[in-house]
Amino acid sequence: MALNTYNNVSLPSFMYGTAWKKEATTQLVLQAVEAGFTAIDTANQLVHYQEALVGDAVLTLARQGITREKLFLQTKFTPVNGQDHRTPYDPSADLTTQIQQSFQSSLDHLHTEYLDSYVLHGPYSRHGLGKEDWEVWTAIEALYESGKTRIVGISNVSAEQLTQLCARATHKPMVVQNRCYAAFGWDKDVREICRAHRIIYQGFSLLTANREVFVDPTMRAIAVRHRTGIAQVIFRFAMQVGMLPLTGTTSVQHMKEDLQAEQLALTPEDIQQIETIGL
Ligand SMILES: NC(=O)c1ccc[n+]([C@@H]2O[C@H](COP(=O)([O-])OP(=O)(O)OC[C@H]3O[C@@H](n4cnc5c(N)ncnc54)[C@H](OP(=O)(O)O)[C@@H]3O)[C@@H](O)[C@H]2O)c1
Repeated sequence: MALNTYNNVSLPSFMYGTAWKKEATTQLVLQAVEAGFTAIDTANQLVHYQEALVGDAVLTLARQGITREKLFLQTKFTPVNGQDHRTPYDPSADLTTQIQQSFQSSLDHLHTEYLDSYVLHGPYSRHGLGKEDWEVWTAIEALYESGKTRIVGISNVSAEQLTQLCARATHKPMVVQNRCYAAFGWDKDVREICRAHRIIYQGFSLLTANREVFVDPTMRAIAVRHRTGIAQVIFRFAMQVGMLPLTGTTSVQHMKEDLQAEQLALTPEDIQQIETIGL
């Protein structure tokens, strides 16, 4: 299933996430690419990610003939409240400068001259969008207009915030990246807004946020009928409803199994049952 953003960038159908991989990041990215992933998600945030170690993998891959254009690299600007003392920009600078510095540092870490996707890790405001959010989004739009990133997006965003952003932004986000809980209809409200604005919804923690789904009898019956595992059913469900799923596995076996989800064909009845499974 081809995923195209409203500004006509095509996205891979599955993404490998590098959070919490620590020193194993380089090796795991290499293994993920060998297994078949081409899209890699990271963030310029040392609390959870090792962006520079993703960059080491990018260099190794280039030596193996897997050039930059064959990869889809996505990283994030993480505001000060999501950083520790290792902030990759001057935390006392104005927000526009912080983003410019963080973006340049990401390019340096990843050994690239452009990004495929640049994502705001989360709004500053808990509810709605405040002055900081608009300043940050404007700076991100400027990066998009400069051509240094092919798409821009936002993460950890509520339906209310996304509605406001779409109404007032010069460039609406092309992707949204959210934790996807079955208990909230797999983030149904945000997905609805994405569908209406042709924004690609990226779902993360599809497995870890939905442990109860693994013991659900309906889900088990669907997996048995398709002769597969529950993780594959969840990832395939995500794809069939138009999401771009992320996997955060550290296992080569799971990487291969997760990619096999693309071969499954869930029925409309399966989809309908899974849509409401956690409600
Ligand atoms: N924007 C944000 O704020 C944000 C926040 C969190 C995450 N993310 C992104 O989303 C990515 C994925 O998040 P996540 O790690 O929570 O995702 P996840 O794929 O839901 O969880 C991965 C965990 O599930 C286990 N698992 C068991 N069976 C699996 C299978 N078949 N396939 C995959 N995993 C299996 C993994 O163990 P094994 O290692 O043993 O397979 C691992 O412990 C992150 O790496 C990051 O890039 C973004």
